Amino acid sequence: MTALTAEDFAQFGDAVIVLINQANDQNTLAQLRSNLQGKKSPTTALSKQMGKLDGEGKKTYGAYLHELRTRIATALDERGDILAKQALNAKLLAEQIDITLPPRHRPTGGLHPITHTTQRMKQFFVQAGFSVATGPEVESDYYNFEALNIPSHHPARAMHDTFYFDAHYLLRTHTSGVQIRTMEKSEPPLRIICPGRVYRCDSDQTHSPMFHQMEGLMISKSSNFAELKGVIHEFLNAFFGKEMTVRFRPSFFPFTEPSAEVDILSDNGKWLEVLGCGMVHPQVLRNCGIDPDEYTGFAFGLGIERFAMLYYGIDDLRVFFQNDVRFLGQFA
Ligand code: DAH
Repeated sequence: MTALTAEDFAQFGDAVIVLINQANDQNTLAQLRSNLQGKKSPTTALSKQMGKLDGEGKKTYGAYLHELRTRIATALDERGDILAKQALNAKLLAEQIDITLPPRHRPTGGLHPITHTTQRMKQFFVQAGFSVATGPEVESDYYNFEALNIPSHHPARAMHDTFYFDAHYLLRTHTSGVQIRTMEKSEPPLRIICPGRVYRCDSDQTHSPMFHQMEGLMISKSSNFAELKGVIHEFLNAFFGKEMTVRFRPSFFPFTEPSAEVDILSDNGKWLEVLGCGMVHPQVLRNCGIDPDEYTGFAFGLGIERFAMLYYGIDDLRVFFQNDVRFLGQFA
């Protein structure tokens, strides 16, 4: 047999490499790879020829064959890299996203009208030097009633429609208990407001079993009814954003003496009751360890929903708690 020369191997290699570089996609190249390197490949056939050669001839033939295999393997790998890069680029191009497009609208929440209303109230009182106090919603009979001069036999209890847990604990029916808690733990002079949830077993167009109140308390050595009137009137002017016509009507609360209810004159000429207030009852001061001969104070309590209804012109209190986003969205 006439052995193949270096020239033959080189020519064959050149031809194969042209073929490899013509492969235009990864599948074609994979097919080519198996044709060129598999059991039935030309190089396998060539290596079978080697047995027929003698010592020196076998050695040179083996070296040529090895070089040919290496050339083929390198060319396959290089072409493979190129095709893989092309495929990746094509994929990236196809999956390109336009980052200049405006984002999809995601509705954000807004503050609840009761929160808005509470914040506007707080704003006035904080500017007037009041600080914000809080107390528990699960309250004891003592703080909700007893300490406020409402003993268990007192008829005023009937007005409160209380949710009781047992003989001692209840859901607070008003924020007035926070007056007691504050006076117990701080020294006068005091100026606090306490907004928060309260509960009464009552439900209709103007009553909800859960609603919000804001309590106010001021204790000093010189507090008097004129000061109370001034603070309340200024508050009402600030809240409604205009000079209000206000009337203080004598009333009764066990924890204040004298007591009054405050009415505002509405645009249609009707008086509307908006809050209760009075001078803190001496017994309530005494219950908290404050000497009524040294200190006097005034207090007031209002329903936040009532103010929100008047301010926004809403006539059904239940809409505040139905969580209808069409309603709530108007206040965001
Ligand atoms: N706690 C009363 C209520 O829920 C409201 C109230 C009236 C609070 C007079 C006061 C006050 O502090 O002085 O009906």
